[in-house]
Amino acid sequence: MLDIVEYDTLIPNNVSLSSDRRVLKALEKWHPGYINWWNDLIPRQFQESLVYLRTAVSVDPKGWAKFDYVKMPEYRWGILLAPQVEDRKIPCGEHAGEPAWQEVPGEYRAMLRRLIVIQGDTEPASVEQQRHLGLTAPSLYDMRNLFQVNVEEGRHLWAMVYLLQKYFGADGREEADDLLRRQSGSEEAPRMLGAFNEETPDWLSFFMFTYFTDRDGKMQLEALAQSGFDPLSRTCRFMLTEEAHHMFVGETGVGRTIQRTCEAMKEAGIEDPYEIEKIRALGVIDLPTIQKKLNLHYTLSLDLFGQEVSTNAANSFNAGIKGRYMEHRLDDDHKLQSDSYVVWQLEDDKPVQREVPALTAINMRLRDDYTRDAAGGVSRWNKIIEKEGINFEMKLPHESFNRKIGVFSDKLFNPEGKLVSGAEYDQGAKNWLPTHADGDFIQSLMKPCYEPGKYASWIASPKVGIDNKPGDFEYVKLHMA
Ligand SMILES: [Fe+2]
Ligand SMILES: [Fe+2]
Repeated sequence: MLDIVEYDTLIPNNVSLSSDRRVLKALEKWHPGYINWWNDLIPRQFQESLVYLRTAVSVDPKGWAKFDYVKMPEYRWGILLAPQVEDRKIPCGEHAGEPAWQEVPGEYRAMLRRLIVIQGDTEPASVEQQRHLGLTAPSLYDMRNLFQVNVEEGRHLWAMVYLLQKYFGADGREEADDLLRRQSGSEEAPRMLGAFNEETPDWLSFFMFTYFTDRDGKMQLEALAQSGFDPLSRTCRFMLTEEAHHMFVGETGVGRTIQRTCEAMKEAGIEDPYEIEKIRALGVIDLPTIQKKLNLHYTLSLDLFGQEVSTNAANSFNAGIKGRYMEHRLDDDHKLQSDSYVVWQLEDDKPVQREVPALTAINMRLRDDYTRDAAGGVSRWNKIIEKEGINFEMKLPHESFNRKIGVFSDKLFNPEGKLVSGAEYDQGAKNWLPTHADGDFIQSLMKPCYEPGKYASWIASPKVGIDNKPGDFEYVKLHMA
């Protein structure tokens, strides 16, 4: 009966919590701290507002969510796992082909706990990073999307906390508490990964974040969905259903920003995308600045994949704890004992591609899959520009550019992947990465637009509404104190 969602309990779930007293109690104990975290985080006036949100009510891919007006603190954060696949086998590593684990295998306990904690830590971190964006929402539609992403990241925290509480005893409980103790950007207790300690200062950053960084999240979830530890696999499979919307918000958000810029340029008869001052005077964000934001967010996200060659990654693959992207569709022995894989290395200060043992290149492989996945949206953005007849092309920079982690991190490269001197870098950087002045300009456009059906100057309206609602639908019923 695992696919039936219990909604009569404090914590909606499809894991029969009502007959699992120990875990139910632990979660009920954790719950008030979570609600406090949420209440302290999101500005007061939005806690009282009615937001048109989807809530997961089933794990059936068709019709798993229902839409309704909800006050966010009353959102039904639940624990939902994808249905158990009968006779599921461990898909990779030295145990490939053995039955999937329903309990934590003792020898991999520490490794599993660490992966779950790292994944769990990113979920509330992004809500913390985005906490002030409601105040400058370019429309009620966008505000609703922001809050949808936020409540679902909150639910993803619940998903990881459930695994910790159910399968890791006392130290799992401690880790669950620490997930609420750490705070994005905090001096004493920062979030675990660097990219999750930076504030998301404006809406273009939010869209870039949901496009690029949520997509890193997607790849990590895809890899964990292949886990031989079945409860983790099932948890991640359902999280991926929600994650798709976050990347939709990012892709269409950037796309609509580009669209509006191109339209405004055409209306004003400006052909040259580098007429920055003239274009900015129209109240839109010039394309070269959007490219700089893309460069920044893409390269920050690449760093989240870790070192190109990594024994940690080899160990978790070999243990069957974390697989490759679409492991089940790959046509090899899923053990990789004698395979090789091409990775970037630095030789005589030049990025070159070299074969290394495939087992050690698991991170790099996932990053390559990520880059391919991320390129899709970029070419759709370019179609928008092309259709408007403007001569400009968005590009993913070379993987060596602006890196803090991995083989490229102690040298300087331009976005084409050419090694440059410090002076050349300083000279070029203002055209490659957003400057403080760019940030000031974008910030100057961040004025709230709270009238139903209206949009801020710098962003086009969406093609279709959420849940097929009409253009002037009131996605958020604001309650301003
Ligand atoms: Fe998430
Ligand atoms: Fe997400």
